[in-house]
Amino acid sequence: MSLLDDIQSVLYPEEDIQRRVREIGAELTEAYAGKAPLVVGVLKGAAPFMADLVRRMDLPLELDYMVVSSYGQATKTSGVVKIIKDLDFEIEGRDVIIVEDIIDTGLTLRYLADLLLRRNPRSLRIVTLLDKPHNRRVDIRPDIVGFVAPDEFVVGYGLDYAEKYRNLPFIGILKSRVYAGRA
Ligand code: XMP
Ligand code: MG
Repeated sequence: MSLLDDIQSVLYPEEDIQRRVREIGAELTEAYAGKAPLVVGVLKGAAPFMADLVRRMDLPLELDYMVVSSYGQATKTSGVVKIIKDLDFEIEGRDVIIVEDIIDTGLTLRYLADLLLRRNPRSLRIVTLLDKPHNRRVDIRPDIVGFVAPDEFVVGYGLDYAEKYRNLPFIGILKSRVYAGRA
């Protein structure tokens, strides 16, 4: 039994992800030269990306994390997201970088960005490893996108199905039998 047995295909191999992470790290290092940004990871999905990315940023940055609840069907239309854990730091006057694993409808990040913008950061930028623009329901434009993803449910490198597969070093698509509960 291996986790790999559940994977139908690999969309983004480990090497491609790591190469893109190095590129984004270099881009951010240049963009924030002379600054000490606060890098905010959205747990749990962004954790692997965040951990790799900040090690490619040569800046005196600080880390913080937010935990938000996945909205239920009822709240999906309103775009209200429950904050389970807020930031530890005040962000007024600071350069803030939100790090996300994936943007789909955009509801989660629109809500988060609006929440943080009300706290008057000096700047707020959004970095997402994957962008699935097909299902977008609100206007949210990430400043940096790792990969534009197809309209498929993906797992790995932080992304889960029923909390599993986050630890895969690549991003892929599951076999349909996994969803059918016959895994
Ligand atoms: P929205 O729709 O608010 O949601 O942009 C972003 C969140 O939806 C989840 N999501 C996925 N999770 N594979 C996943 O494992 C996917 O393909 C996928 N698409 C959306 C994820 O929790 C993300 O933070
Ligand atoms: Mg997420």
